[in-house]
Amino acid sequence: LPNNNGNTLKKIKVNLEQKSYPILIGEGSLSRLYELIGRQNQNKKILAVIDGNVERIHGKLITKALKKFKNNIDYYILKPGERSKSFKELNKIYSYLIDKKFGRDSLLIALGGGVTGDLAGYAASTFMRGIPLIHIPTTLLAAVDSSIGGKTGINFESKKNMIGTFCQPELVLIDTAFLQTLPKAEIKSGLGEVIKYAYMSDRKYYAFVEKNLEKIFQKDLRITEEIIIKSASIKAGVVAHDEKESGLRKILNLGHTFAHAFESELNFKIKHGEAVTAGIIASLYLANKIGILSLKNLNEFLRLPLKANLSDKFFMLNKQNIFELMQSDKKARSGKTKFVLVSNIGKILLDVEAERKEIFFALEMMQRAAAKS
Ligand SMILES: NC(=O)c1ccc[n+]([C@@H]2O[C@H](COP(=O)([O-])OP(=O)(O)OC[C@H]3O[C@@H](n4cnc5c(N)ncnc54)[C@H](O)[C@@H]3O)[C@@H](O)[C@H]2O)c1
Repeated sequence: LPNNNGNTLKKIKVNLEQKSYPILIGEGSLSRLYELIGRQNQNKKILAVIDGNVERIHGKLITKALKKFKNNIDYYILKPGERSKSFKELNKIYSYLIDKKFGRDSLLIALGGGVTGDLAGYAASTFMRGIPLIHIPTTLLAAVDSSIGGKTGINFESKKNMIGTFCQPELVLIDTAFLQTLPKAEIKSGLGEVIKYAYMSDRKYYAFVEKNLEKIFQKDLRITEEIIIKSASIKAGVVAHDEKESGLRKILNLGHTFAHAFESELNFKIKHGEAVTAGIIASLYLANKIGILSLKNLNEFLRLPLKANLSDKFFMLNKQNIFELMQSDKKARSGKTKFVLVSNIGKILLDVEAERKEIFFALEMMQRAAAKS
């Protein structure tokens, strides 16, 4: 698919029978949305839910790129930040849709990071029992992870993602031009998930990520595109095998059992991807401690996440609180925490149980490593 600049859009298919959809990746691809959504969608009434910062920075470019939709498109600007994943904001979107007479034949577009995608996705999957959805992720984290796989949701009181659905989009369109305006902290956050995919992949790709870490921070377009394509392909493959997380999809939770507890303990004053990086470090130590990862591999595999430079917030975490939080995680079964652990690159073990003292050891080592990094 050539785009406006003559470049080719890369295509990855998420294979889910009748629910299959493409992920299209390329700089400047937003301006081709009209053609890409197909005849059946071109005359629909559309609501684009847009992250406030994205609108502020890219608003003019977005309206210009979407001018082919003429008066069929409305814009709902979302206040940036995790707090927008709430019932209050959801109600505002429903009211907007009802006031403006959106019906079942309308289309919702989520244009922003994971917050916009999760909230707009939940709205799309529940409004009038479900209307079609398109994701246009604008953060690295959303491009490599949250826009793919159909998880939607909002937070309930202080509990993250407690209310949600599985709702596969019709299309994920990744215009890499958006990523150029991301603050460094957001790149660092997306990197947590990128690193996760590197362990799930093979040695060649793992070495590629390690070698190009600095270029990812510099937002080098070619490298960024490569890591998005690779990450999205891995996620698409996993989701195609296990849409609703009954087995294989758990592999995507590498580092996340620890990460979710870190986020709760720090009152979500830490970015998700950064918590994942710290979670991966703790998981590597845990894997070594329980004997599934050699010392040589441990030292080698720690290099990549440690280069991502952890925030000092991690070495103040209270280990007992983290331990208890992990036991009450919604993925824990009857009080037993199950971990996803790396035993080698491309070799990930699911549902691994660990003793309290092993978990404490892994946390302690992660904290020491964080303090030194
Ligand atoms: N559904 C899933 O499978 C899944 C997976 C992982 C994470 N998540 C969720 O995703 C959310 C985190 O997503 P996120 O990290 O994208 O956060 P986010 O949506 O809050 O975006 C991060 C920040 O970047 C800004 N921003 C977005 N695009 C920008 C751009 N192009 N230029 C400049 N600034 C920009 C936003 O305004 C915000 O301040 C969490 O709520 C998490 O629970 C969902």
